[in-house]
Amino acid sequence: MSEERATVDDELIIDVDFVEQEKQDHPVDRKGQSSPNPLSLPRGTPSDNGRARIVTVTNQKGGVGKTTTVINIAAQLGLRGHRVLVIDADAQGNCATGLGVDKRLVKATTRDLILAPERAVESRHQTAVEGVHMIVGDRSLVGLDNELLRQLGRERRLTEAIEPLLPHYDLILIDTPPSLGIVTINALVASHGLIVPVQTEYFALEGLAMLAGTIREVRNLFSANLGVDGILLTMHNSRIQLNVQVANELREAYGNLIVDPPIRRNVRLAEAPAHGVPIHLHDPESHGGRDYLSVVLELEKRWGIDSR
Ligand SMILES: Nc1ncnc2c1ncn2[C@@H]1O[C@H](COP(=O)(O)OP(=O)(O)O)[C@@H](O)[C@H]1O
Ligand SMILES: [Mg+2]
Repeated sequence: MSEERATVDDELIIDVDFVEQEKQDHPVDRKGQSSPNPLSLPRGTPSDNGRARIVTVTNQKGGVGKTTTVINIAAQLGLRGHRVLVIDADAQGNCATGLGVDKRLVKATTRDLILAPERAVESRHQTAVEGVHMIVGDRSLVGLDNELLRQLGRERRLTEAIEPLLPHYDLILIDTPPSLGIVTINALVASHGLIVPVQTEYFALEGLAMLAGTIREVRNLFSANLGVDGILLTMHNSRIQLNVQVANELREAYGNLIVDPPIRRNVRLAEAPAHGVPIHLHDPESHGGRDYLSVVLELEKRWGIDSR
């Protein structure tokens, strides 16, 4: 009996230690007393002229609007004349549905791209939007993290695979799963910049503090270039006090890293994938359609690319 109690207590103590350790690594101080600011995020770095900018859409939290953001930013960029490649690195594979790609007809996926980079060119598929191509993610990505564990140079697979595609696109957008496995690390290492969708709810700042730690590690170990192109406020409702309060906190902490306007909560965004089209083909005048357009105009400025 006493032994059993000791075990339970041990677990609790370990738990507490871990939380303390985390606080020391990334102290979240809302009164601005700590220095250097643990929330601080480096900016993305410029990409080479005539070669694609690689941007990963990431947040370790699920359901914050990553996939919705990839689909609709890619589509709007395509409609505005940019050459875009979407790479879906999430086993859920929802980008294909949202961009009108029939997964049953797909012969090569993101798994093939990572395991056999020489197949990059033939892994691409046309989407419902002219000028937007994609490499489809699917269930075959499950387990890839474990397989890569045994491989040399495992964190740079995607970087190498994408290399021959760079002259052919203006933007390469990568969707990621809500976890920090080797596939996600591959995406971060390959990237010039990140777009971070954040829901204006509790724990938004904590999530970003965690991301700041991840970026620091990736910069130290692999890519000194990785930084943030923009933090996107998603599923926002300005009539909900909590949403407004969190948005204000985020603005205070991150200033002009925040991309305006926030993406409003809008059912048209949620229903568009069922029609196999992005919001700008489904209902461009909806709140979601207008907000994503405004966000793309702002990102074009940040990336220094004009509409063609
Ligand atoms: N602005 C929004 N308004 C309403 N629903 C949204 C919005 N953005 C995303 N959704 C819906 O919320 C769910 C989660 O979004 P998703 O983009 O899949 O998040 P993630 O990729 O981060 O898991 C989806 O059902 C999506 O259609
Ligand atoms: Mg997703």
